[in-house]
This record gives sequence, structure tokens and C-alpha cells, in this order.
Amino acid sequence: MSDLPLWLAVLPLIGVGLWAWRRWHHPSFWLLVGFPITAVSVRASWRRIALGCGLTKKRQRWWFTTVPGLVASTGIVKVKRRFQRVAVDTKPFMWLPLPTRHGWRVTVHTLEGQTPGDYADAAERLAHSWGVHAIRVSSPGPGRVVLAATMRDPLVTVDQLPPSTDLLKVTVGRLETGKPWVIDFRTVPHWLNAGATQSGKSNLANALIVGLSPQPVALVGIDLKGGVEFTPYAPRLSALATCRDEAGRLLDDLVALMLDRMGVCRQASARNVWQLPPVLRPVPVVVLVDELAELYLMADKSEKDEIAKTSTALLRVAQLGRAFGIYLFCCGQRIGSDLGPGVTALRAQCSGRICHRVNDPETATMTLGDLDPAALASARAIPAETPGVAIVAGQDGQWYRARSFYVSEQTAEHAAHTHAHLTSPWAEITAHLPEQANA
Ligand SMILES: Nc1ncnc2c1ncn2[C@@H]1O[C@H](COP(=O)(O)OP(=O)(O)OP(=O)(O)O)[C@@H](O)[C@H]1O
Ligand SMILES: [Mg+2]
Repeated sequence: MSDLPLWLAVLPLIGVGLWAWRRWHHPSFWLLVGFPITAVSVRASWRRIALGCGLTKKRQRWWFTTVPGLVASTGIVKVKRRFQRVAVDTKPFMWLPLPTRHGWRVTVHTLEGQTPGDYADAAERLAHSWGVHAIRVSSPGPGRVVLAATMRDPLVTVDQLPPSTDLLKVTVGRLETGKPWVIDFRTVPHWLNAGATQSGKSNLANALIVGLSPQPVALVGIDLKGGVEFTPYAPRLSALATCRDEAGRLLDDLVALMLDRMGVCRQASARNVWQLPPVLRPVPVVVLVDELAELYLMADKSEKDEIAKTSTALLRVAQLGRAFGIYLFCCGQRIGSDLGPGVTALRAQCSGRICHRVNDPETATMTLGDLDPAALASARAIPAETPGVAIVAGQDGQWYRARSFYVSEQTAEHAAHTHAHLTSPWAEITAHLPEQANA
């Protein structure tokens, strides 16, 4: 009793100390204080939460039960204990949780008849039950799922990372796991970058301009917003098309360039430009397209042939470009099948998918539809207050939430001017092509 005043003085001091530690160095606080408490409570609550989220199964078990039995001669009711088969709720086995940068993760063994999809369906309920920002479900192997919890949205602020120095590789942001978000054209040659207006598509294109400008690559812009987005970067662009007409001619050039490179590879018995000896190896070309839908929109029937021609050229570049060092990065607000079969075919060739916040479910479905349905749900849940947040199909076949670094137009413009001397003029790149290619 006499210690009470002492405790009343010490407890607030401990509280203030913990608060200060958490503010001063959150990772160590999380590892030594926050995580152990969380891990114990996750394990302790698993049965209750698995039951509430529908992840348990009824199993027959032998159990000691008490049954009332009537003794006929005396009419007295006697309680008997005996072994009996009863159905009990069994929870999936859970390993010990492990700490991660933004929360924790734990491996769970699925029960018979369960799939990772059952856990993905319950992810939101699990997140609410454990009071965390989100639960992501992945499956490292048959019969096992990993539940990864993030305590807070790690994408509210993302700190810069050093730029990548590898050819055709750009670090454009961070994944929710804390790892760098890298766009590597040599691994994934063609990309679809979809999103509603103000969702962060051009910011990502700016990040590519900044990342690729110092590299020995030719940048080509097709800006169907009348050139307002890419014209400031013209000093670092080898060619820029600002309307459909110009885009058509530029795509014809690209197809001719591709066919020419095909011939060079054939003569040198190389399967792609990277197998050519360095003296013969042509400069890689990255084509940035903004407002993709404008290439396909038809005001009247007279435009049908022109659209078909442009769309076929773009598709040919997408189909064969990778081997011949031509890469596509296509941005658009809407990428729906109603734009025509050309878009659907293009989508099939673009294995890199980025889906920012979208207005229509179809764009999300077109961009991410062949991934996990949970990716679609996550894309639709991106709030407007966090531009630059996107769902990204990773090179490992998984999908991630990610956020690009903020790259202002001024920064991209500055990079384009600084590295203008690296720009190969389009006339030089296409000099040896047949006449029609030099339009
Ligand atoms: N990663 C980011 N971090 C912080 N702010 C961002 C980020 N990405 C974009 N923004 C902000 O959001 C605004 C809209 O971004 P952006 O111009 O890239 O959108 P958009 O999708 O290209 O829109 P539109 O379709 O209208 O061209 C920008 O002005 C920028 O300030
Ligand atoms: Mg834009």
C-alpha cells in the first residue's frame, strides 16, 4: 500500500519513456516491445478469429463427455462420463508470427478442402479482427498460406531510393513491402499503365524520363494529349508525335526499324539484339505513349482504316519489339474492350501491368483481370488522396500495392535538358531504313 505513490510516479514515467522511444526509433521499439505483445495476442486470438472469419472446420473427435443416465430401479438421474465422438471446431495450425518492416507475417497450414482463396476472401475480416491496416495472403507452397499484416498504410509517405544504374532499369517507387518498385524493360518489355485522371500516370512517366535520360537509350514520345505532357521533355526525345497522324507515321517507322533489326540479327545468327556483338548492337528504344485510348477512338467511319493501321503497327511493335530492343510503356485513363479488339490484343502482349485508382471497374479488370481477384478489389479501394498508389504485377508473378516517388514536371524537364546531349536524332536512327520510314 505504501508503494502506491511511488508507482503512481513511476508508471507515467515509463509511459513517457516508451512513447519517446517509439517516436525516436520506431523500428527498434516495434521489434522489442510492439511486436512481442502483438505476436502473443495474435496467437491467443487465432481460434476465436478463425472461427469468426469462417476458417475453421468441424472435425469428429473422441471426447470425454458427461451424459445423464436414468437408473430405472430407483428413478435417480446419475451423471456418467464416457468417451464419445463429437464434432468440434478445428482451427488451422498457425506458426509463430515473425516481425516485418511494417507489421508481421505468419504461416498457416490450411485445413483439408481449403485454398489460399478462402483466406484471401477473409482477408478484410481478418484485418478488422486484428485491428491492422491490411492483411495480404500469399501461398508459398501447397497447403500453406502466409498472412502478412501491415499495421499502417506504408504508402502514405514513401522515401526516395538511390536510382538504378543498370541499363533499362528504373527505380520508380516503393512496394508496400518496403522493397524498391523497379521497372525493368529487359525483364518485362511492355507495360500498361492505367488510371483515372489525377491518379499519377504522368508522374510515373516523369519518373521514367528521369531514370532513363542518363542512360544510353533512345526515348520516343507519343503524346495524344496534343503534346502537352511530353513537349517539355523534347530535348531528350528522339521523336515526338502529338496527334494520331504523327503517331501513325512514327509507328510505321518503328515497325520498319524493327524489321531492319530483325535482318541484322538474322545475318549475325543472333536471336535478339542483346546477342549481337557490341559494335553491331543498336540503341534500345523506349516508346512512351500517353492517352492510349485516343489511338483507338473513332469519330466517324472514315477513320476506321487509319485506326486499324495504327493499331496493327502498335501491336506488331508489342509482339516483336522485345527481341529487337523496342519497348513500350502505354498510359491511359480507360483501357476497355469497347475501344476495339486492338486494345485487347495489345493488352495480351503487355505483361507489365500497373493499375492506379480507376473510375470504371472494366479498366481495372482489363489491366489486372488475369491476376488475383483480390488485386482488383485492392485497385478499386485506392483512395483519391494518395495519387501515385497503384497495383503492380511484379516480375515474380505476384501483385503488390506500390507508390511512385513524386517526380515533378520540372524535375523531369531538368533531367531532359541535362542529358539532351545523349539524344540520338530520329533521322540518324532511321537513316538506313527504306524511304517511307523517314517521314
Ligand atoms: N507518387 C506521387 N506522390 C505524390 N503526389 C503525386 C504522385 N503522383 C502524382 N501525384 C500528384 O497527383 C497529381 C496528378 O498526377 P498525374 O498528373 O501524374 O495524374 P494523371 O493520372 O497523369 O492525370 P491525367 O490523366 O489527368 O493526366 C500531380 O499533380 C501530382 O502532384
Ligand atoms: Mg497525365
